[in-house]
Amino acid sequence: NPEYYEYFKEVHGIPIYKDFAKYWNNVEAFQARPDDLVIATYPKSGTTWVSEIVYMIYNEGDVEKCKKEAIFDRVPFLECRDVDDFLNGIKKLEGTPSPRIVKTHLSPELLPASFWEKNCKMICVCRNPKDVAVSYYHFFQMAAGHPNPGSFPEFVENFMQAQVPYGSWYKHVKSWWEKRTNPRVLILFYEDMKQDIRKEVMKVFQFLERKPSKELMDKIAQHTSFQEMKNNPYTNYTTLPEEVMNHKVSPFMRKGITGDWKNYFTVALNERFDKHYEQQMKGSTMKFRMEI
Ligand code: PPS
Repeated sequence: NPEYYEYFKEVHGIPIYKDFAKYWNNVEAFQARPDDLVIATYPKSGTTWVSEIVYMIYNEGDVEKCKKEAIFDRVPFLECRDVDDFLNGIKKLEGTPSPRIVKTHLSPELLPASFWEKNCKMICVCRNPKDVAVSYYHFFQMAAGHPNPGSFPEFVENFMQAQVPYGSWYKHVKSWWEKRTNPRVLILFYEDMKQDIRKEVMKVFQFLERKPSKELMDKIAQHTSFQEMKNNPYTNYTTLPEEVMNHKVSPFMRKGITGDWKNYFTVALNERFDKHYEQQMKGSTMKFRMEI
């Protein structure tokens, strides 16, 4: 992609948005607190969904509290920077009282060392790569900071070749998967959440050493459903200026389903993707359900 270096800069070999990369020293030097909870994902994998779930748990289902600020203010995006300094993740985090919830798209290697040193808990959410690619393709078109993704097959090629922000999806998920035996790390799958949200929310409660009442569980399931979050300005990103995200082009809360890739992949593209996927994931025990 000829526009690649206009938009992204490589940080430790991984393409990152230029505005973010400019201040990478500050990201690396970030000081975690022991009670920080990290939500780490490859982009478009369910970050916002899990962020709202954890925020609800932390606030015992107080929906009013969830509607005081937008999700990007309640769960700041660690490495995020913009020219206006409006989305400065580090600044927001420094002004957030403990216990903080930290959003990041970084791999375990790129995550600031302090989170590991302070033994912070981390939740990683993963989603099947075909649906991630579809979601990312639409995000490229609606959110500032991205080159024109071209046709869908062209974009998928760049995705396979790690020529997108945060680089190789394959490396990212495999690397987090390697951390699964660490009791401070919980790995969730978007497909599991779609299938049985209560079961996955229960895993989060257990991981946080808490117990939900039936009422709280019901409230969380209801408040974090796709329809609720799509209509909620505090979770759907519509409070950002149109120059930052244009929901008329494609809403941030787009479809919220599994298997939308079937509407975008041709048979030939799918075969090529599967072959590449197999090579990339060889030797990993990680399994994705793409057929649900
Ligand atoms: S980002 O920009 O990386 O933080 O995006 P992220 O939140 O990880 O991913 C956005 C996709 O997640 C979908 N989403 C949901 N699906 C189901 N239920 C709920 N509650 C929900 N909230 C967000 C969102 O619609 C994006 O997926 P697509 O496939 O584009 O619809």
